[in-house]
Amino acid sequence: MAIATVILAAGKGTRMNSGFPKVLHEIGNAPLLLHAWRLSQKLRPEKTILVVGKDGDKIRDCAAAKGIDAEFVVQNEPKGTGHAVLAARKKLDRFRGKLVVLYSDTPFVRHSTLNKLIASVEAGSAVSVLGFKASDPTGYGRLLLAPDGSLGKIVEHKDANSSELSIEFCNSGVLCASKSVLFDLLGEIDAGNSAEEVYLTDVVERAKRRGLACQAVECEEEETLGVNSRVELASAEAVFQRRSRIAAMSAGATLVQPNSVYFSFDTNLGIDTVVEPNVVFGPGVFVHRGARIRCFSYLEGCDVGMNAVVGPFARLRPGTELCADSKVGNFVEIKASRIGQGSKVPHLSYVGDAAVGEKSNVGAGTITCNYDGVSKHRTIVGDNVFLGSNSLLIAPIEIGDGSMVGAGSVVTTNVPPDALAISRMRQINKPGMASRIMRRLRKLKME
Ligand code: UD1
Ligand code: MG
Repeated sequence: MAIATVILAAGKGTRMNSGFPKVLHEIGNAPLLLHAWRLSQKLRPEKTILVVGKDGDKIRDCAAAKGIDAEFVVQNEPKGTGHAVLAARKKLDRFRGKLVVLYSDTPFVRHSTLNKLIASVEAGSAVSVLGFKASDPTGYGRLLLAPDGSLGKIVEHKDANSSELSIEFCNSGVLCASKSVLFDLLGEIDAGNSAEEVYLTDVVERAKRRGLACQAVECEEEETLGVNSRVELASAEAVFQRRSRIAAMSAGATLVQPNSVYFSFDTNLGIDTVVEPNVVFGPGVFVHRGARIRCFSYLEGCDVGMNAVVGPFARLRPGTELCADSKVGNFVEIKASRIGQGSKVPHLSYVGDAAVGEKSNVGAGTITCNYDGVSKHRTIVGDNVFLGSNSLLIAPIEIGDGSMVGAGSVVTTNVPPDALAISRMRQINKPGMASRIMRRLRKLKME
């Protein structure tokens, strides 16, 4: 049966102590919103509805920037999770199927877990709730089970008595029910509780009163980790990183010291890649089979070709494409440039807005002078080029195939194929001059 997802993102997020909505805070370089949306899309929903609050504009802007395709609903006042789901009602008028309610601040539930939750509704449960055994249940709603193991009631922490408070089985917030049943039950609920909110969780008790059975599906605590404060944001980041490392290693990448490698939400490492300690993957990195990323390198928005070697201490910025068997060495920064197959930029260079052909060597300290203070200009280096150390290439410029540039040159005009360009003063050797100077300097010091 069809699925629609409702992602709740209208909460105040007060405990974040932030000037912008909670869901825009990032884990693995992606806002919580994107994580939650990506999770929802795994269910191939017919509809995805994002419930946002009054500050929804920032969330809309973020959604547009990140390519999040969802329908927006505004919940003007944050009057509770049940109230938030009701705000989506109109958008779901024509929808017939099951609703999965997700929280934007709880984005790490596994796809397989959601499938279990949906399966339990398919098996006859009126409302199924995802629960977990909390190591510290403080603040969570408690799941009260009936003697037959079904879910009898959810009691919020604020409303719980002392025996209910001792229950460890807690509500993650994620829930699944058929749309018609859920809205039917929600229609009966008022805000008669200590928080004066319409609790989504109250649908369970309502269902029970009507003789409908509900179920709690259990998952790992880690999956339901909610982000309510900066401290919890950091804990969620740690969980995300650990999971990403395990996923990368399972997919065939070697992480020499996994705990020191930072992943983004979309980092993609090919089979037999090796990542040495202390590497940071910013967003948009694709590393192909057999490549090696050496210590202390920082990569973002780049494509590292097969068997390429990067670092140690390399910085690859957005728009970098390293072709197969290329090499970028220490203290090299590359930006918006393509380094051709088998070419090398081994030491101390800045290469920006450039294209380097195949089997070329960019000598130590070479700089592409791509910026004139107003505009950026391109540098084109052909195949089999040898750029001597400390070459300055003043863009726009083209260095032809098979050419050479003498070390220390400032290259201002195009170099034809197979030519040697040298632009520096001719060397003069003055016989005996050095020792004469030294003698004079020592004498001066003695006086
Ligand atoms: C909720 C659950 C609780 C559960 C806990 C898990 C209810 C009544 N309580 O409590 O049982 O253990 O989550 O983390 O459901 N939101 C809105 N509009 C609102 C209120 C909230 O969109 O008016 C959104 C928030 O943005 C957030 C989610 O709903 O994504 C949960 O809200 P939050 O205030 O964090 O609920 P809790 O008090 O943590
Ligand atoms: Mg919460």
